[in-house]
Amino acid sequence: MTDKWYLGIDIGGTSIKVGLCDVDGALAHTYEGPTETDRGRECVLDNIAAYARRCVEEAGMDWGQIRGVGVGIPGQIDAVRGVVEFAANLPLSGVRLKDHLEKVLGKPVRIGNDANVAALGEALSGAGRGAANSVTYTLGTGVGGGIVVNGRVVDGFSGMGGELGHMTIVPDSEAVRCGCGRIGCLETVASATGIVRMAREALEQGVRTTLSEAGALTAKAVFDAAKAGDDTARRIVDRAAHYLGLSMAQVAVIVNPERFIVGGGVAAAGEFLLERVRKSFRAHALDRAREGVVIVAAELGNCAGMIGAAGLVRDL
Ligand code: BGC
Repeated sequence: MTDKWYLGIDIGGTSIKVGLCDVDGALAHTYEGPTETDRGRECVLDNIAAYARRCVEEAGMDWGQIRGVGVGIPGQIDAVRGVVEFAANLPLSGVRLKDHLEKVLGKPVRIGNDANVAALGEALSGAGRGAANSVTYTLGTGVGGGIVVNGRVVDGFSGMGGELGHMTIVPDSEAVRCGCGRIGCLETVASATGIVRMAREALEQGVRTTLSEAGALTAKAVFDAAKAGDDTARRIVDRAAHYLGLSMAQVAVIVNPERFIVGGGVAAAGEFLLERVRKSFRAHALDRAREGVVIVAAELGNCAGMIGAAGLVRDL
């Protein structure tokens, strides 16, 4: 039995997931608890530390066996200084999270953007295994991205590397405002939030669609209606896929990855979404930048964040 264990913590707006990983990135135990953002910063910080310790306790291990702690956070992260610069859905903006956690947990800590960390997880032990260069999109409430080049995540100069959801891609004539304050971001059309917004707009315009009978208007309801042949829902899915494929065509001439990996809740739509994304990518990408390039579904699901976060500290 190895005594080298790593904790990977995935902080989300609703829950905090902690995974205990071995040197190969295999999860031995996980613990999940509520983030409790409404109870404020101190409570969220206390929860992170408490869940980390509880995960190790539940696994029947000693805290001394933990070598390091990695953390993924949805937002703009300065990974070098270990600071959460801005997190729209968490009360952690401005927090020196690395320093804080190193003090309360007594272990080396590294932090990173949630999607960068998920991309690392997929690259280490998911759909990106064996590929030196891969680019992961996470399609959820927002659109996250992570670029892995020669096995390392590109954080960039100020942590903005791989913020693919904020590529300006929708033409001004059709663009709406993004949560980041700018207009035309990929996130406005390819996130669950964007898909629901497009569906709501169609309903408000009085378009005939089976979506008017869907109980709750969710991205899944839009995909289900599209799969069942609803024209409006299909146009929305086509639009999301068009811009995803178009954005990949841009990334292809910058990074030239061999694999694009699509994860996050929206990716549960599976091949129905992916085949449309591939079609758009093929139509827009430069020949030599698309030859041999594959677009595949993520493999680690909800665990990518924990596995990738642990990966941040595995090479310490
Ligand atoms: C944020 C990213 C984050 C993504 C997924 C985006 O809106 O800008 O930092 O990775 O959502 O959570």
